[in-house]
Amino acid sequence: MARNVYGLDLGSYEIKVYDKKKDTIWKEKDVIALRNEKEIFAVGDEAFSMYEKAPSNIEVVFPMKEGVISRFHDMQFLLQNLLKKDRQFARGSEYVVAVPTDVTEVEKKAFFDLVIHSTAKAKEVNIVERSIADAIGLNLDVQNTRGVFIVNFGGETTELSVIAGGGMVMNRLLKVGGATFDQSVINLVRHSHDFLIGRHTAEVLRKSFGIFTNEVEAMLTVAGRDLITGVPMRKGISINLVRLAMKDPLFQCVSAIQSLLDRTPPEVRKAINENGIFLTGGVAHTAGLEMYVEEMVGITTRTSVEPDICAVSGLKKIIESKELRKFAFSMIDENYRWMR
Ligand SMILES: Nc1ncnc2c1ncn2[C@@H]1O[C@H](COP(=O)(O)OP(=O)(O)OP(=O)(O)O)[C@@H](O)[C@H]1O
Ligand SMILES: [Mg+2]
Repeated sequence: MARNVYGLDLGSYEIKVYDKKKDTIWKEKDVIALRNEKEIFAVGDEAFSMYEKAPSNIEVVFPMKEGVISRFHDMQFLLQNLLKKDRQFARGSEYVVAVPTDVTEVEKKAFFDLVIHSTAKAKEVNIVERSIADAIGLNLDVQNTRGVFIVNFGGETTELSVIAGGGMVMNRLLKVGGATFDQSVINLVRHSHDFLIGRHTAEVLRKSFGIFTNEVEAMLTVAGRDLITGVPMRKGISINLVRLAMKDPLFQCVSAIQSLLDRTPPEVRKAINENGIFLTGGVAHTAGLEMYVEEMVGITTRTSVEPDICAVSGLKKIIESKELRKFAFSMIDENYRWMR
């Protein structure tokens, strides 16, 4: 039986997997539920459904933190379980893993170790810079472009990349993502209404309102707890309040885009002005985000069709194409350029 090949984009919020044999891309929450601190109770979407609802002896944890692996063994267990669960789990497979660029060598190596040292008994593990995978997922000509700017708005990070001539020219990983927006919404709702909402509710508010559209009257009634009486109840939260909460973290993102552009070599900068900025990552689904970035930065901005699975679709293309294979590196290869 031929070996299978998996493409993995391990996000802080969701794991995205490409399975070559089945020719499918699927995703599942990057979450694990532990009972009595050690016993694994549930994984993935099932564990996520217990978030903020579980009894006190069940702890729901996210093994990735701000784009890197923070609980190695939990992450390894989760991945093994997800790949096994009603999907065939072939030993001796090959893995192509997307890895953020602007993290330490030790953090990068952990992505490699995660798979190579698991019971998966991987035959081969290669890594791809995640923004390169994003660019390929966007159908950009990575090898020949004179300059493109990619922003991946993820669950806990926003990654900014300038790519030209087949390589990364500049890259920055901001620790601002969907979770930052959610926390900001929670804080503002608490301060202005003495009302405590959960992270999931904040996410629902943020997703349904979007930013930078003409709508100003909308209101959504959500469940929470009144902090004065202590009683659980429902309250209406206005679109304006949610947008106000998004303002600061969003501004941090566009300021970082602007400052990376300012440091980009002039000829690459010129090409970016012509080619534009591309948005990927789950938060890029936000209505109005594209327009907001375009207005603030002054460069044409477009969003990937399926932004959350853009990087993993790039991995799929890398796995399928001999020509694109060169963008995947082995960390034990002497040509591994980050180690040099
Ligand atoms: N329709 C939507 N509108 C707004 N935000 C959305 C939508 N769908 C998903 N998101 C947000 O996208 C985020 C997850 O995106 P993504 O899967 O790219 O993150 P990740 O890869 O897990 O995280 P990271 O790359 O930061 O490690 C979550 O914060 C989620 O709330
Ligand atoms: Mg991601």
